[in-house]
Amino acid sequence: MKKLEQLYEGKAKKVFATDDPDIVIVDYKDDATAFNGEKKGTIAGKGVINNRMTNHVFKLLEKEGVPTHLVEELSDRETAVKKVEIVPLEVIIRNVAAGSFSKRLGVPEGTPFKEPTIEFSYKNDDLGDPLINSYFAVALELATWEEIEIIEKYAFKVNEVLKAYFLQADIKLIDFKIEFGRYHGEIILADETSPDTCRLWDVHTDEKLDKDRFRRDMGNVEEAYNEVFKRLGL
Ligand code: C5P
Repeated sequence: MKKLEQLYEGKAKKVFATDDPDIVIVDYKDDATAFNGEKKGTIAGKGVINNRMTNHVFKLLEKEGVPTHLVEELSDRETAVKKVEIVPLEVIIRNVAAGSFSKRLGVPEGTPFKEPTIEFSYKNDDLGDPLINSYFAVALELATWEEIEIIEKYAFKVNEVLKAYFLQADIKLIDFKIEFGRYHGEIILADETSPDTCRLWDVHTDEKLDKDRFRRDMGNVEEAYNEVFKRLGL
């Protein structure tokens, strides 16, 4: 497979064309942004960690029946993936109150839920990724009801698999964001699953081991990413 021209540069990744029209190469950067790009920085080594972790998690999810865009890890930072049309929804699952949920609803961070929740944001930088519900998504033709049903089913399955995966490394999965794509008419998991997109807390101390350390200027950002990497044996 030949790496060809750059198609796109996002906040955390670059995407390149290949000589196969169905495959693109994702190149993970160390750049970090938060608050819709208002806060910018670098987390040294993050690209390597997020690439490895996403691929490991996606392989696990494939085994558990969740189809993903993963084709092949090519290097420390590069992975060949199926070229999808991204469904413009951020799908967020929460097990414990934190972040925007705590702010919006006045529930203290760390409050566990009776059942996991699901929410959708409309992926739109100009609007700041507003919270929407599934009826909005269908009305705006962001997805069909059939697609929403599949996305919800996969999202809760991802939660089950990831909760157990992190727990064996003494990490609590508080919440996470995933994205899906369309590939030859099928819905598959795309984008990444990493400390950038998950809230991960130490099971004993509740120490934050994720991007909140960057968002909230807590320090030891690289150390937290490395700790997750090490605990998962990646
Ligand atoms: O900020 P909020 O509480 O809504 O975030 C919920 C989860 O989604 C967190 O794990 C956060 O890292 C992730 N997220 C993300 N990308 C966004 C917004 C949230 O990965 N643009």
